[in-house]
This record gives sequence, C-alpha cells and structure tokens, in this order.
Amino acid sequence: MAQNTENYTVITGASSGIGYETAKAFAGRGSNLILAARRKNRLETLRQEILSRCPSLDIIIKITDLSVPDNAFLFYEEIKTYPLQTWINNAGFGNYDTVSHQDLNKIRQMLHLNIESLTILSSLFVRDFKNTEGTQLINISSAGGYTIVPAAITYCASKFYVSAFTEGLAWELKENGCKMQAKVFAPAATKTEFGKIANDAAEYDYDKAFGTYHTSAQAAEFLLKLYDSNKAVGAVNRENFMFELKEPQFDYAGNSNHNQNIEK
Ligand SMILES: NC(=O)c1ccc[n+]([C@@H]2O[C@H](COP(=O)([O-])OP(=O)(O)OC[C@H]3O[C@@H](n4cnc5c(N)ncnc54)[C@H](OP(=O)(O)O)[C@@H]3O)[C@@H](O)[C@H]2O)c1
Repeated sequence: MAQNTENYTVITGASSGIGYETAKAFAGRGSNLILAARRKNRLETLRQEILSRCPSLDIIIKITDLSVPDNAFLFYEEIKTYPLQTWINNAGFGNYDTVSHQDLNKIRQMLHLNIESLTILSSLFVRDFKNTEGTQLINISSAGGYTIVPAAITYCASKFYVSAFTEGLAWELKENGCKMQAKVFAPAATKTEFGKIANDAAEYDYDKAFGTYHTSAQAAEFLLKLYDSNKAVGAVNRENFMFELKEPQFDYAGNSNHNQNIEK
C-alpha cells in the first residue's frame, strides 16, 4: 500500500484480537484509520499506541454496538464523507453449543452482528465507493465459513453466509468492471477474546483447547498478504495451519443458461 494520508481504512471490532493488530498493521503502512467497537477505553488505548509511533496519522474512534443493525446505518452516515479506501468488517463473535441447547438471545445478537450489520455496511460501502480506484472490502469469515465444525453449527452457518456473500460480491464487482475488490479472510483458531466469548467462560486456555493456533499479529500479517494480492480468498488451512491465497471457493452460476433473464 502506498503511503497516502488522504485515505482511510475502516476496521470494525478493533478493540481486541485480530482487529486490534490489523489496525496497527494498516497504520504501519501509513493509512489513517476509523476504528469501531463498543469499548471506548480499548479503542482509546489503541489510538494512543498508534499515535506514539505514527503521530501524523488521523485515528478516529467510533463507539457503536453493531449487534443493533440500525447502528450500522448510523455509523456509516457518520463516516461516509471521508475518503475511504479499505473497509474491514471484522467485528463478530462465535458460540459453542448444540443447536437444541443454544441461548437464542446470544444467537440473535450473533446473527445481527455477523450477518446483518456486515451486509448493511458492505452494501453501503460498495454503493458509494465501487468505482473508486484502489478500494477494497475485506470481510472476516472463518475456516468455519467453509467447513462445518461440530458444536459451532450456527456460528459456522453465519460465516458461510459471510463467505458466500463476499465471494458473490467479488464476482459481481468483477463482472461489472468496478474498481473495488471484495475479499474474504478466513482465519482458523487465533488466540483472542473469541474463545472466552464463544464459550461464555471467564478464562480460556488456547493451549489446552487447540494446541495449534495463530496469534492476532500473525492473523493481521495474513490479512495484509490478502490485501496485497489479487485473490478473492485468503484462508488458513485447518489441517496444516498454512495461510493460502485462493480463487472463490463456492460454485458460481456465472453464465448458466438457467439463470433468470435480466432486462438490461
Ligand atoms: N479467534 C479465532 O479463532 C477466529 C477464527 C476465525 C474467525 N474469527 C473471526 O475474527 C473476527 C475477530 O474476532 P477475534 O478473534 O479478534 O475476537 P475478539 O478478540 O473477541 O474481537 C472481536 C471484536 O469485535 C468487537 N465486537 C464484538 N461485538 C460487537 C458489537 N456488538 N458491536 C461492535 N463491535 C463488536 C469487539 O469489540 P467490543 O467488545 O469492544 O465491542 C472486538 O473488538 C470475528 O469476526 C471472528 O468471528 C476468529
């Protein structure tokens, strides 16, 4: 990414984990930032950390609860006049439980955040910026957005949505000759607050739970590799934990004769 202080990167869920490290990584490349989450103190700490190293950057923090989809519209309205270049929908959480036993209040919040707000923010960004040179939308899915993981069915389904929506959008932008690229980032186990929240646990030991995992800083490095590439998917292989850049994974009906005829 070129040093360009005229451009802004938006990162939702920047107050911890992958989003926190991704914010530092994009700041390291000279990008101004708009950082969103619910915890103001965490975002303020991150802002100060970045400014101590990169004092010339503009780091804007926005406090918003994106599990309320209407807040996604309000958040977008507040920032849409900035010269946005990259939008990273990272805010999300998981849940480990059986479908028959799962807490439906938590599940509804998860679906609002992982699916609805992500769709609203993606659509508004694409609507306004799809023909702006160099723009990218990166949506954070999961290895569980391509493989169904036991006891995480609903979470995986929400991430299958993210993968399918973003791959489809990548096709749509390409076929319409748009300048924006849409990409899916699919990490596997990464040591963050995710484990605690997904298991409703006060403490969570990634060494006991997984043995193999990445750090948030490694995940941010993978995300930058995806950003620098022309591939639509960057995914961690759940078997060997290698990061792989790929073409879209889902079947795409493209030129099928069986598609609905669309009047142009
Ligand atoms: N860690 C993993 O193993 C793993 C693997 C695959 C995919 N992922 C995905 O990676 C993304 C980042 O997760 P992470 O692992 O970095 O977990 P994390 O440390 O729990 O970070 C999640 C971020 O999302 C924000 N967030 C949660 N609920 C929100 C809400 N209602 N409104 C606004 N922001 C909200 C949190 O901020 P506040 O609490 O301050 O709002 C936090 O900044 C998620 O989409 C997750 O599904 C994680």
